[in-house]
Amino acid sequence: MYHALWADWYLPAALPALEQLFFSRVPAGSRVLDVCCGSGHVTKELVRRGYQITGIDSSAALIAYARSELPQVDFRVQDVRCIQLERHYDAALSTFDSLNHLLTPDDLQMALSGVHGILRTGGLFVFDMNLEEAYSLDIQEWTVDISPNRIGLVRGTYDPVTKKASTELICFSKISEDNLWRQSRSVVEQRCYNQSEIVYALTQAGFRRIETVSARAAGVTSGLGFGRIFFSAWR
Ligand SMILES: C[S@@+](CC[C@H](N)C(=O)[O-])C[C@H]1O[C@@H](n2cnc3c(N)ncnc32)[C@H](O)[C@@H]1O
Repeated sequence: MYHALWADWYLPAALPALEQLFFSRVPAGSRVLDVCCGSGHVTKELVRRGYQITGIDSSAALIAYARSELPQVDFRVQDVRCIQLERHYDAALSTFDSLNHLLTPDDLQMALSGVHGILRTGGLFVFDMNLEEAYSLDIQEWTVDISPNRIGLVRGTYDPVTKKASTELICFSKISEDNLWRQSRSVVEQRCYNQSEIVYALTQAGFRRIETVSARAAGVTSGLGFGRIFFSAWR
């Protein structure tokens, strides 16, 4: 359902930021880890740009989809909190607030330490995360996305005390020409971290140089840019 609703939305909107922060700094041919790669729609762009990719994600279903789209890529079902890879990478990228899926500061710390561990010295890690403004927007309001064979409904809730956010997704997909539709529903949990918590965790993980830029300042003009921040961290 994630792929059906969002896969085509993120990349075009985030491209100016990825161009400035990642593609312009990491030469083609570099070995890149796509961290929490999901169904592989950003991976596809990395392949198109000539990087050598490994993609990891904890969802076996999304990895299966990614493999079917990009059979030449080394995809692994792996939890970002305990990365196990046999080689070092020139760079890592984690897109679409994937690290907000880590629900405790310890989990975030483990993930950042794991990414630090697989980078070569001088290697770059770029990722984006949602800040509190993003979760405070449109609380409880359904967003509806209608196409001929699919209707998607998305709404978010956020608890500022626990910093937990949940996004409820309902999708109606047309499965036959005689107007038979299937409904599916899922709830995705995230946690909000503030900028200084994330910078602290990066420092604790061992990153020696860290830069932050709001998605807006990095050229993300659509709604995707609201309350989103990009981090660049060098090992
Ligand atoms: C919003 S999606 C982004 C996917 C992809 N980066 C993209 O831009 O399309 C978040 C992804 O994080 C993955 N994820 C969540 N928790 C994870 C974990 N602990 N380890 C690895 N992947 C995780 C989910 O399965 C999902 O594919």
